[in-house]
Amino acid sequence: MDRATYIKKREECAQKIRATQDLASLPEITTTQRLVAYDDAEGLREFERVGEITVSPPGYYSMFTDYAQVLKDEYFQLFSDMNPEDAYRTYLITLRVSHGQETVSAGFKWDFIGTLRTGERFCAILHTIVKRRFRKCGLSSLLKLDEVELARSENCDFIQTFHETDNPHFSSIIIPNLKNRFVLHPGIKHKDELHTKGGFVHLRKYFAPIRNTDVIFKDGTRFESPDQNSEIIRHLLTFKHFPGKQIARIEGRGPRAGASPKSVIISKKT
Ligand SMILES: CC(C)(COP(=O)(O)OP(=O)(O)OC[C@H]1O[C@@H](n2cnc3c(N)ncnc32)[C@H](O)[C@@H]1OP(=O)(O)O)[C@@H](O)C(=O)NCCC(=O)NCCS
Repeated sequence: MDRATYIKKREECAQKIRATQDLASLPEITTTQRLVAYDDAEGLREFERVGEITVSPPGYYSMFTDYAQVLKDEYFQLFSDMNPEDAYRTYLITLRVSHGQETVSAGFKWDFIGTLRTGERFCAILHTIVKRRFRKCGLSSLLKLDEVELARSENCDFIQTFHETDNPHFSSIIIPNLKNRFVLHPGIKHKDELHTKGGFVHLRKYFAPIRNTDVIFKDGTRFESPDQNSEIIRHLLTFKHFPGKQIARIEGRGPRAGASPKSVIISKKT
């Protein structure tokens, strides 16, 4: 990750927390990337005792007993396309805020890293949470920087995430993706979409080659992602209620000409 960008973002978040919580001085913010589990020839190895993570609000996973099952629940298509012979790794990115004698957990993000049968390596974002007390301070953008760095260091070809269009926090969750050149992605099916009319927006960040998509809104406005992501953000913000529901469709354009494919490093089980 570009260290200067990370430090600048962290400083901005600290300023916002100081202002919203009326603190006498700037709090200190720390993020850590922890390898929680991986599978290898010996089977699944876990570093985190199940149940130790206690910061998630009701309705969200705070512990996993079967990481592959969670991937199946959340990313039905990636799970079906995954090469079961290849090792996977699960990371927990944690976020802590310290001020004076107090250090609290302010949020976290779970990432699942696996390999498809095509050889492409992916990072699927399982859950992102910022605790209520620390919301609207840009912390999900800070977590996003860690997420991108982790996927890059794990040699991933792409990061995949999705958001429900009726999530009341839709803008706060999609904007950090768009600012980090994620593309809105067509043709992905979430398990629930097979039974309902949809209501999900899927995104990918490709490291190389970059693939562009067209995003068409219900009012007919059309933008190219990721090059016009700033315009997409501006357009989304003109809709007061459930902006994600204003996206009519997304069309793929394929790999951008001239981009060279990245070599994939795959760790095979022996
Ligand atoms: C979704 C969630 C993680 C967002 O976290 P957050 O740290 O409060 O996010 P913020 O509100 O600070 O917004 C993140 C970015 O979006 C921008 N943004 C959000 N709403 C905006 C608006 N109306 N106009 C302009 N920018 C906006 C912020 O400015 C920030 O960008 P920046 O860091 O570049 O300044 C948090 O609300 C949460 O945990 N919700 C419950 C769980 C959840 O829904 N998780 C997602 C499941 S997929």
